[in-house]
Amino acid sequence: MISQETIDAIFNAARIEEVVEEFVPLKKRGINMIGLCPFHDEKTPSFTVSPTRNIYKCFGCGKGGNPVNFIMEHEGSSYPEALRHLAAKYQIEIKESGLPADYQEEKNERDSLFLLNEFALDFYVKQLHETDLGKSIGLSYFKDRGLLLKTIEKFRLGFAPSGPGGLTQAAVAKGYNIEFLRKLGLTTEKDRDFFYNRVMFPIHNANGKVVAFAGRQLTTQKRSPKYINSKESDIYQKSKVLYAMNFAKQAIRKEGSCILVEGYTDVLALHQAGIEHVVAASGTALTADQIRLIKRYTNTVRLLYDGDPAGVKAALRGIDLILQQDLNVEIVMLPEGEDPDSYLRSQGTNTFKQYVEENAKDFILFKTDLVLEETGKDPIKKTELIKDIVRSLAHITDPIKRSVYLRQCSGQLDVDEDLLVSETNQAINKINRDQRIDQMRQARSEARNRPLVMDGLTPDEAKSSSKSKPGVDYQERDIARILILHGHKLIVKEPEPVQVASYILAQIQEVIPSFSDALSAKIALLYGQRLANGEETDTSYFIYHTDPDISKLASDFCASPYEYSENWKTMWDIHLQTQPMPEENEVQDSIQALWRFMLKRYQKLSKENMEKIEELREGTNEDELIKHLEVQRMIVTKRNEIAQKLNTVIL
Ligand code: CTP
Ligand code: MN
Repeated sequence: MISQETIDAIFNAARIEEVVEEFVPLKKRGINMIGLCPFHDEKTPSFTVSPTRNIYKCFGCGKGGNPVNFIMEHEGSSYPEALRHLAAKYQIEIKESGLPADYQEEKNERDSLFLLNEFALDFYVKQLHETDLGKSIGLSYFKDRGLLLKTIEKFRLGFAPSGPGGLTQAAVAKGYNIEFLRKLGLTTEKDRDFFYNRVMFPIHNANGKVVAFAGRQLTTQKRSPKYINSKESDIYQKSKVLYAMNFAKQAIRKEGSCILVEGYTDVLALHQAGIEHVVAASGTALTADQIRLIKRYTNTVRLLYDGDPAGVKAALRGIDLILQQDLNVEIVMLPEGEDPDSYLRSQGTNTFKQYVEENAKDFILFKTDLVLEETGKDPIKKTELIKDIVRSLAHITDPIKRSVYLRQCSGQLDVDEDLLVSETNQAINKINRDQRIDQMRQARSEARNRPLVMDGLTPDEAKSSSKSKPGVDYQERDIARILILHGHKLIVKEPEPVQVASYILAQIQEVIPSFSDALSAKIALLYGQRLANGEETDTSYFIYHTDPDISKLASDFCASPYEYSENWKTMWDIHLQTQPMPEENEVQDSIQALWRFMLKRYQKLSKENMEKIEELREGTNEDELIKHLEVQRMIVTKRNEIAQKLNTVIL
C-alpha cells in the first residue's frame, strides 16, 4: 500500500506536459500544447495539454484527466502501478503502509467456516430425510404445518437429533477442527451439540452461502425458547442478513417491491404460494444494514405485521431509520391474531393478495392514525404523539416529500402546520449536527485509509466509473458540475458574501445521501465537509484530487462546460438559444441547475404517487385514495411553481 504522503508528493511533482511527452510529441499552441491523440486514430491533432491546469483532454475521443489518469489510460496500468511509474520518473521514494500480515490466513479461516456450515447443513438435511427419528418427528412436523416436500428441499430444512451421534461427533470424525465448530456456535464450550431435538432452518446470505442456523422446538416446552439461533461469527452478523434474501432477490427486482414478514415460517408459506418477494428479519428490529441490503434490489418495502397492535407499535418505533434511507415504506397489518402463515392458510392465496393490496398504508399516515386512536383527546398524550411524529418526519431525507407529509399530518393531527414545521426543523437540525460530527470522524479515518481503497480499483473500473454512463442522473451530475466549476464563486456579494456551493448545498443537503449517482453524491458530500471545516475549495482541488474518478470528472467538466447543458435541452425541451450561455452567467447557471434538480425530484414523486393512485382506484379504500389525490394536488402545485420559475428565467 503506497502511503498518502507519497501519493501527495507524486501529485505535486508530476507535470502533465512532461508526462505526456514521454509518449506523445507536443507542439505549443497559445497557452496550451497539442499533439496527435494516442487513444484514437487521427491525422489532425485534437489532443490538448494544459500546463496551467495540469490536465490533458482529447476533443476527438473525449479522453482526459490528470497525469496519473494519463499513465493509467496509456499504459493500461492500475492506480498504484501508475503512481509507481511517476515516482520512478520523478525520483520520489515510495513509502509503503504494509498489508496486514495475517490477511491470507484470515481469508482461509472464513472459507473454512463456510465449508463447515455446508457440512452441518448436509448433516441436518440427511437427518431429516434419512433417519427414522428425523422422518417421524421432523419431516412430519413440517408436513403438518402444510409445507410441501419441494419447499422443504428448496429451503434445505433439516433436523437436529438429540443424544449421541450428533453433529459435533460427525464433524470431528470427518476431521473438522472443533475450534471452528465452537466459533460457529454449532458446538458448546462443553463440546456438546448446541442444536438438538429441533427442526432446522439454514440462514443464507444474499449470495446463497450458509452463514447460520435457526432451530425451532418441536413441542411447546415452557422452559426453552421457541427458536434458537447460531451465535454471531466472522461470517454471520445478524444485523446484516435477511432470511431468504437469496431466494427472494430476483422476485423483488421483478415485483419492484419487497415484503418483510416477522417469521421464518411466514416466509416459507408465502414462497410456497408463489409470493416470492418476501424476506424476514429473524425476530429482530430492522437494522440500517438490512435496509441497505433491500435497497440493492428495490426502493419500496411493505412491512407485513402480525395482527397484534401492541407489537406493531413497538416495531414502529424502530423504523424511523427506514425513512432516512429514502425508501418508500408501507405497512400492512393483518387481522387480529393472524400471522401471514396462518392467514394465508385459512384464506387462500387470492384473498391474501387482495387483503395486502387493500390494506397497505403509507407508513407515516399509518403511524399517525394508530397513535391517534390510542391517545384520543388526552392533551398530554397528544404532545407525546406530536413529538413522536416529528421525529419520524425529521428522518425523511427528501425535503419535498417531507413538506407534503407535514401538510397531511398537520391535518390529521389537527395541529397548526407552522408549528409542526418548526418542530420538525429543530429535530432535523439535531440530526444534522449529530451526522456532521459522525461524517467528520469518518472522513478523518477515510483519509487515513485512502490508499487501501484505491488499490482495489482496476484500471477498467476506474475508467468506466468516470464516464457519463447512459444511466447517470443528469440533474445530479449537473449539481456536481456546478460545484466543481463555480462552487467557489459568489452568488451574492451583499450584505454578506455567499458562495455558490454553500447556497446549493444548503438546499439539497438532505437529499444527497439518496442520490442515485454515487460520484455526484461523493463530490457534494466532500464539498459540504470542506465548507464545514472552513477549507477553501476550487476547481483545481478536484482536478488534483487523488481519487481518479473525481479528478477525471473534474477534467472533463473543465474541458467541455456544455456537455451537460446539451442534455437539458433534450430532457426538458428548453430553448437554449435564448438563454445566455452558462459561462457568461455562472450564477444563473447554478440556480437553474438547482431548480432542474428540484423539478426532477418532483417529477419522480409525482410519478410514484400517480402509480399509487392508479392502484387505489382499483381497490375499495376510498379514504386512502382521497389522501393520495390531495397529495398529488400539492405535488403538482409545487412542480408548476418551479417550472414557471425556469420559464421566466429562460425565455
Ligand atoms: N423468534 C426468535 N426467538 C424466539 C421467538 C421468535 O428468534 N424465541 C424470531 C424467529 O425469527 C421467528 C420470529 O421471531 O420466526 C417471529 O416469531 P413468531 O411469530 O413467534 O414465530 P413464527 O415464525 O410465527 O413461528 P411459528 O409459526 O413456528 O410459531
Ligand atoms: Mn407463526
